[in-house]
Order: sequence, then C-alpha cells, then structure tokens
Amino acid sequence: MNLPDSAFIHPAGENRGAVEQLLNQAVGLLLDELGGATERSPLPPLTQLPSPNIPAIAVPETELLQQVRAIIQQSMNAAHPGYMGHMDSIPSTISMVGDLVAAALNNNMLSVEMSPVFSRLEPLLLRQIAQRFGLGAQADGVLVGGGSLGNLQAIAVARNTYFPVLEKGLVGLDKPPVLFASEVAHTSLQKAAMVLGLGSRGVVGIPTDDNSRLDPGRLRRAIALAHTTGQAPFCVVATAGTTVTGSVDPLGAIADIAEEFGLWFHVDASYGGALAFSPQHRHLLDGIDRADSVTFNPQKWLYVTKTCAMVLFRDADAWRQNFRIAAPYMGEHGPWYNLGESSIQGTRHADILKLWLLLQHLGEAGIAAIIAHNFAITEQFVAAMRDRPHLRLATQPELNLVCFRSEPEAIAPEQWDDWNQQLQRHLLEKGHTFLSLPFYQGQRWLKAVLLNPFTTPRHIQQLFEQLDDFGS
Ligand SMILES: Cc1ncc(COP(=O)(O)O)c(C=O)c1O
Repeated sequence: MNLPDSAFIHPAGENRGAVEQLLNQAVGLLLDELGGATERSPLPPLTQLPSPNIPAIAVPETELLQQVRAIIQQSMNAAHPGYMGHMDSIPSTISMVGDLVAAALNNNMLSVEMSPVFSRLEPLLLRQIAQRFGLGAQADGVLVGGGSLGNLQAIAVARNTYFPVLEKGLVGLDKPPVLFASEVAHTSLQKAAMVLGLGSRGVVGIPTDDNSRLDPGRLRRAIALAHTTGQAPFCVVATAGTTVTGSVDPLGAIADIAEEFGLWFHVDASYGGALAFSPQHRHLLDGIDRADSVTFNPQKWLYVTKTCAMVLFRDADAWRQNFRIAAPYMGEHGPWYNLGESSIQGTRHADILKLWLLLQHLGEAGIAAIIAHNFAITEQFVAAMRDRPHLRLATQPELNLVCFRSEPEAIAPEQWDDWNQQLQRHLLEKGHTFLSLPFYQGQRWLKAVLLNPFTTPRHIQQLFEQLDDFGS
C-alpha cells in the first residue's frame, strides 16, 4: 500500500517516529497560532480558501500543515481577548486533549459494548450534574450535539408524555399541542416544534418585561386563553441566559404556573447552566430544581470544546418510556443503557471525556474563579457606560452579557442602526474587538459576551477609548 508512513498509528508500534513527528508538528503549529492569538484579529479577514480539489496522490505533510496554518490564521479567533461577539469561548487545553484522545479511540456512544468506559462515565457524570441542578435522585441525561438538539429531545419527551403519540403520531389528537416560551427564547424551540409536528406556531411567544424576562402574568393569561380556544397546552420553557441579553427568566414563578396548569417545565440553561458551578452565583438559577428537563451546554461557559451539550430529565424512567427505541442488534449490559437507544443521535463522539477532564482539571474552584472574573469585567464594562450618556443598555446585565447601543443626540434616530453597524466595524478594525450586532426589539444593538479569562480591565478601557474615538 502506497500510504504516508503516519497514515495510521501502527497497531504494533512500528511507525511511532513518523506519527510522533506529525503530532509534534501539529502541536507546535497550534502553540504558535493559539499562543499568538492576540496578533490576529478576533475575526481575521478571509484571504484564501483551501482548494477543494481531491489530489490523485498524497500531499506531503509539511505542505498540508502549512495549509492548516493558513486555515487557522483565517478562522474565527475565539481565543482573542477581544472576541466578545458570541457565546463562543476560548477552548480549554484539557478539552482539546479530551477531543484528541476520544478521536484516537474512536469509540461509539451508540452502545455500551462500543464504548464500555464512556457509556458508563456519561450517565455517572450527568447524574452528578443533574444533582447540582437539584433535579433529584431519579434524574439522568445524555450528551447531545448542541443546545438545539437538547431542546428538541426535551420537548419530544414532554410531548410524548402528555399525548398518546408515541406509536400513533399526532393524527389522532383532537386539539393542537402548544408550548409556551418567552418571545426572546432561542429559535431552536420553533425548530423543535416544526420537527415534532406541532408547527412553528405551536410555540406561543410570551412578551417579556423590561429586562427581557418572561412575564409570568402574561404566561398565565396565555395558557388560560389557549385552553379556551381549543389548543392543548403541554409545556412551558424558561430560559436561564437568553441569547441576546443573557437574561434569566423568573424560574420559580414559572415553575409555579407550570405546576398550577399541570404542564411540563423545561429550562433552557444552555448558557446559564454553568452558574451551577459557582457557589457565589448559583442562586441566579433558583427554581431550576423544579424543572422536568434541563438543557445545558458546557461548550459555552464551561470552556469545553464544541460540541458538548446535554439534556437532563428529572424522571429518567419516564424519559426512557416515552422516547426509547430498543435496538435488537445491541447487547444488554445490566444496569447500563445503550445511550443511542434513548437519544436522537445514534453514533456519537465521546464528548464525555473532555467534559470529565475539564471538571477534574479546573475543579469547582477554578470554574468559579473564572466566572467571578467574568462578572467583575462585566461590572467594569457597565460602569464605563455610565460615563457616556449616549450609550443605552438594552437590559440591566444579569450575567456576563452586555447588550447596548450608541444613540448620539447629534445623529437622527433613524440613522442609529447604521451608526451602530459602523461602530461595530470600527471596533473590529481599529480596536481588535469583535462585538456582534443582534437585531433586538426592532433595532440593531451591540452585544459583548465577556467570557474570556484573559480579557482584562485594560482591554475594556481600550475598547471604550476606541468607542470615544469613533464618536469624536
Ligand atoms: C439560550 C440558547 N438555547 C439554545 C441554543 C442553541 O444551542 P446550539 O447552537 O448549541 O444548538 C443557544 C445558542 O446560542 C442559546 O443561546
């Protein structure tokens, strides 16, 4: 076979040198480029895409690695302390190691026999995390490929629990099922409703208060109205950390309403779930312990490389009864489940390894220290805004997100959207700071997610200097 020496790791170790050379070069490259992340823009310009042509013969490794270097240099640079636009964190080193080892083992989370350690470690660790959210002794969960899939699976289980659709589908229902979420909840809920046969109109959007939090009074009225207009309410979704402003819905009050109407209570804590690891801040999640299901993405605020997300269920037996499709070709392993039977995905990467490694490597104290730093930087950001009356906050920040815009008196209000768009470009080009430009309440805003542990007070000061520079 005419293959590169390092094409595979020889199972009897015969090509260790060749593989070592490739891996060492790749690690060297990563250290050069990630260790030099501040020398590139947080969003570097795209200069040349890799050629998609499939070569007839092998490309030499040195040439390939040069191409990888070019790819890195043009890629979104989330490691840069000025990368603040989205909920994408600098990746922790240990989770990169976890990804590499999981890839090298190439086990399969579909079944216990295909991943004997990971299929046991995943429920053991997720049960611990479920305990942290206060979901009780019967709770369990599964890792999924992102918050959207977590929400989809939670709503699927809720729907299957409330309606006899598991075998017959929706055709026999006399009333359309509807669920309720704030009007700023993540769009994955509409996608889930669409996939689950409820239609995107199956999500009733509830108006929010001034701080972009679901308004419980309006929720109660909307549920009562749905009952009188021939719909079948079955689920309420609260968000702990909304995508645009990082707002946390009043979880306890929403849990009360879900209980009053006998509805499933799902909490989308894709972002805010990380607060469960901060003794100082976990009170912000008060009420999450009453959830029937929770989505949480360690790939966001826990610094685990993508993808790493989970869906947790208070009553694991009910989850399996209302979702599991047994695979007859899989062996049985006593108390351990073939995870692919009870999740949407079948074959799945062992993301549990990097999550486990991250928790071991940083410990609760390490995670809590980063979260405390994020909150302190956010406070400094908001304090700097107070000295600049043309800056307006969309909401009072509850977490480490600041959503704001510049509204200078000298400029006509109808031009403020354009003005903020230009400001965003100025900050990126002149200040190496990337803020995103969400559309919220009919207007363009600037969003900063203060996630990077290397973002210092000096960076914030520089950002505001650049902002003043644009204004003048
Ligand atoms: C609140 C919330 N829920 C769900 C999601 C979807 O997560 P993912 O992109 O991992 O599917 C996001 C993504 O930003 C989010 O902010």
